[in-house]
Amino acid sequence: MKIGVLTGGGDCPGLNAVIRAVVRKGTFHYEDEFVGFMEGWRGLLEDKTMELGLSSVGGILPRGGTILRTSRTNPAKKPDGLQQCVTNLKKHGCEALIAIGGDDTLSVAKKLFDMGVKVVGVPKTIDNDLSGTDYTFGFDTAVNIATGAIDRVHTTAEAHNRVIVVEVMGRDSGWIATYSGIAGGADVILIPEVPFDIEQVAELIRQRHARGRYFSIVVAAEGAKFADGIEKHGGASVLGEGRDDFGHLRLGGIGPTLAAEIEKLTGFESRSVVLGHIQRGGSPSAFDRVLATRYGLGAIDMVHRDEWGQMAALRGNKIISIPLAEAIASNRKVDKEILDAAIGILDKLDYKVSKNS
Ligand code: F6P
Repeated sequence: MKIGVLTGGGDCPGLNAVIRAVVRKGTFHYEDEFVGFMEGWRGLLEDKTMELGLSSVGGILPRGGTILRTSRTNPAKKPDGLQQCVTNLKKHGCEALIAIGGDDTLSVAKKLFDMGVKVVGVPKTIDNDLSGTDYTFGFDTAVNIATGAIDRVHTTAEAHNRVIVVEVMGRDSGWIATYSGIAGGADVILIPEVPFDIEQVAELIRQRHARGRYFSIVVAAEGAKFADGIEKHGGASVLGEGRDDFGHLRLGGIGPTLAAEIEKLTGFESRSVVLGHIQRGGSPSAFDRVLATRYGLGAIDMVHRDEWGQMAALRGNKIISIPLAEAIASNRKVDKEILDAAIGILDKLDYKVSKNS
């Protein structure tokens, strides 16, 4: 069978491992042939392709990024864009398409499936916010990078008696902030799911310092929200006004605003660090290489079981097949168990200072 493959949306460590697994199993076990559509949906829309065979996937397992490149192009936004994608698939003789991406990319895959295209999806995002799957690949790598950064700012915060705010990615959900905050021993974790009161954040830090700790680490997801709005605090959490093809604003800015407000309210010298794309770059962790490989193998098997309009998903330790519709239905929020773990380990507001002194 001839199969098209593309990677869409923000890149993510492990994309190459998925591509490699698809191509290797497809070639060795099913005698498939592949066409690589470049730069996400843009490649399918504008007919930009590359050869995709065993030689193109040699040595790519540990490499970050994606050999197919990526973009946030949305063909549904272009006149006749989706029809053009169907035409280009036919032009290359592709009987099926494997789309590797997050909710935006997979929402386009679902639209094409509804038009009769034989599509299989693979879940990708460092944010880990796709429904229907326990983990997306790339998340573990991002958490490791963020945790390493938190470890590093710990020592400098301690040396200078400072509060350091670490801003991590996480547009709609705080998975990276929560995991790296727990793993890095953060003192405050702020996530989009739970809008925060800056007075309470300041009080927690004051309380900690009154206990004799003279530095603090705050981890904030880029999408974390001041309960009364960031504008009231002289900041902004978006960069510019432009939106991408899927309507998303560029987030950024909560870290510096938080640091300024914490310093103002507590009198403790504060700094901020924005990790940004460092979390998306570089080599995938061993966990993500294995998970991405399993997703790739799952996807090519699904193609040969005619499981169209479905996505490979991880449930427990099994790769299963779920409808694309389920994966894109809603954004996956940090679940209660993990939130409870984060809350359980953090200082409690109003903790009696005398208990510990
Ligand atoms: O969707 C994943 C993500 O990493 C978000 O956490 C972040 O807001 C966004 O991508 C950044 O996208 P870009 O690379 O297009 O600026």
